[in-house]
Amino acid sequence: MITESHIDAAIERLFKEIQFPDEPAGLYDPLRYMIAIGGKRIRPRLCLTTYAVFKNRLTPKLMDVASALEVFHTFTLLHDDIMDRSALRRGQPTVWKKWDEDTAILSGDVMQIDAYKRIAKAPVDKLDEVLELFSKTAAEVCEGQQYDMEFERVSEVSMKDYCKMIGLKTAVLLACSSKMGALMAGAGEKECQALYDYGYQLGMAFQVADDYLDAFGDEKVFGKPIGGDILNCKKSWLTVRTCEKLSGKERQDFLTRFNELEDGDAGVRKIADIKKIYVECGVDADARAEVCRYTEEALKAARKLKLGNVRYEVLRRFAEKLVSRAK
Ligand code: IPE
Ligand code: IPE
Ligand code: MG
Ligand code: MG
Ligand code: MG
Repeated sequence: MITESHIDAAIERLFKEIQFPDEPAGLYDPLRYMIAIGGKRIRPRLCLTTYAVFKNRLTPKLMDVASALEVFHTFTLLHDDIMDRSALRRGQPTVWKKWDEDTAILSGDVMQIDAYKRIAKAPVDKLDEVLELFSKTAAEVCEGQQYDMEFERVSEVSMKDYCKMIGLKTAVLLACSSKMGALMAGAGEKECQALYDYGYQLGMAFQVADDYLDAFGDEKVFGKPIGGDILNCKKSWLTVRTCEKLSGKERQDFLTRFNELEDGDAGVRKIADIKKIYVECGVDADARAEVCRYTEEALKAARKLKLGNVRYEVLRRFAEKLVSRAK
């Protein structure tokens, strides 16, 4: 059986040895930089993990597909950091800060193309399905990012619309990664669907946790600036839940303060004011509970596979590690 430590070692090697063209260095250096500064590599890890449920040996083509998932994800971060005006990623300066915006746009573009070259290495008998899933997902991520941006400019967002948005910008890529492992292993349609659902629910948990950590995480561990969502008037899970819990004048006052654009010292005060309301409303604890609820949903989907204990345990452990993340 492929164990967790096999997967860890394979992922480590994959990204240590990954190659991008040398020239022009101005285009490809940001790709090398982003991959070298790391990240959790959750999407390729998830792909290898679901593959390991069915098969006993990793293959080079599987590693190509796994690398496509991480390269595509990293491309989305290059553009996301421009859109979110974020200066820090993985504890290091973001590409648009270290180089400039034009570089982050063009290096992002070529990184997406690089991801497609990697996914196209999937075995011929699976290529149609693999490409269809990957392209559908890639377009959905853009749709989610569009809603995310549009929501910054509307005063408030319902939980239903918020869930649709994070489903698209984040959950579908984890769902795709999870199903990709099953597809590559030649699993049947039902199994592929159950693993898609498992990944989707994990993805929902993952984004709610990200929203929580954006306000309540430790910047040194999280590797991203704390309070960025609040400064951007980003309708995070915490914002949406606060609106559900408040009413009347309190609710209106919260929304007015939340939608004020502030920077510098005023921005620091805004972050403190909003976090205070979050804590008073108890939405920090609610978010942690929601992460657990989504994770439980993921495990429910995994149980539909009717795997033996040992193989189910692989999926359970993956979910467990994700829930308790601080970065
Ligand atoms: C960040 O993803 C973007 C979200 C979907 C929240 P990760 O938290 O997986 O980022 P890295 O790759 O580990 O840096
Ligand atoms: C991430 O959303 C979604 C994508 C990058 C597609 P965020 O904007 O919350 O991600 P972070 O917090 O910058 O990593
Ligand atoms: Mg964003
Ligand atoms: Mg962002
Ligand atoms: Mg975030």
